[in-house]
Amino acid sequence: VHTPRVFSGIKPSGGLTLGNYLGAIKRFVDMQGEMETIYCVVDMHAITVWQDPADLKHATRELAAAYLAAGIDPTRSTLFNQSQVAAHAELGWIFNCVARVGWMNRMTQFKDKAGKNREKVSLGLYAYPSLMAADILIYHATHVPVGEDQKQHVELTRDIAAKFNTDYGVPDFFPQPEPIIEGPATRVMNLRDGTKKMSKSGESDMERINMTDDADTIAKKIRKARTDPDPLPDTVKGLDDRPEARNLVEIYAALSDSTPDAVLGEFAGAQFGQFKPKLADLAVAKLEPISTRMADLMQDPAEIDRILTMGADKARAIADPILDRTYDIVGF
Ligand code: ADP
Ligand code: NA
Repeated sequence: VHTPRVFSGIKPSGGLTLGNYLGAIKRFVDMQGEMETIYCVVDMHAITVWQDPADLKHATRELAAAYLAAGIDPTRSTLFNQSQVAAHAELGWIFNCVARVGWMNRMTQFKDKAGKNREKVSLGLYAYPSLMAADILIYHATHVPVGEDQKQHVELTRDIAAKFNTDYGVPDFFPQPEPIIEGPATRVMNLRDGTKKMSKSGESDMERINMTDDADTIAKKIRKARTDPDPLPDTVKGLDDRPEARNLVEIYAALSDSTPDAVLGEFAGAQFGQFKPKLADLAVAKLEPISTRMADLMQDPAEIDRILTMGADKARAIADPILDRTYDIVGF
């Protein structure tokens, strides 16, 4: 049996959205104290698509600042960036030799990201789920809080763990990590098109709320968010086939640590003209203190680097012995 341990990561690949906050960072904060928690800035995943080196360094510090500003406590959690702990890449290579090409071909996120460009994307983009399995399993992590879009990758991680354990005859060496996909905001949608996920890399800035947006920008984006002409229903059942309405209700619920049904209990019968200003006020009240703290932290990049270096030392202390045992098992 494996000791309960949480691992998750976020790519430093440009702005952070409300989707990253509600689907990931906020939940990472909530899990501190429940279990041992390890949170990573996965910079090696970011370079699966081109990153300007100076921008990458900035985005790494900014993501670390977002974690800290949102409430990740580096004395209670291990907070670091992936490239500083070489064991991720080393186990990642072993997993490239365990995972099957057919498994990678079934990854829907690769199909979406590569699109028609399949022959031109990096080999790293294709193999990225295998490195992600290494990120999790190098700590023998048992719980992985993620948004809905990452479920398939955590399932692949389980398959890689099982195949390694079977191939090498080491039952239970790697745990079977559980994806933790909970709460009302596991899939925050685009504000202009409720059928698409809110993402860093969308076409227009109006379709997402960035963690660093100021109060006026947040209010404007919510005011302009696409909705329908009907009033809010009294239960979530009434949100079926109303993806934009559902999204705004779920965002409200997540920001207020409530549930969609409780939000509708308060707003049933209200028009979006009444609901949107309340949502904007709530979003500003929750996000503005975080973005202010982020800006303060970014004034002192050396301090952020110091925290990440300390975190990498803590991470290596867990990862290196597990890598040593893995090397023994493999015959290295
Ligand atoms: P992105 O998808 O924005 O490029 P990452 O792939 O680094 O960001 O994802 C980091 C975390 O944020 C993952 O756990 C992912 O599931 C979560 N996440 C990203 N977008 C959303 C969203 N729109 N709703 C909920 N969670 C999300
Ligand atoms: Na993602």
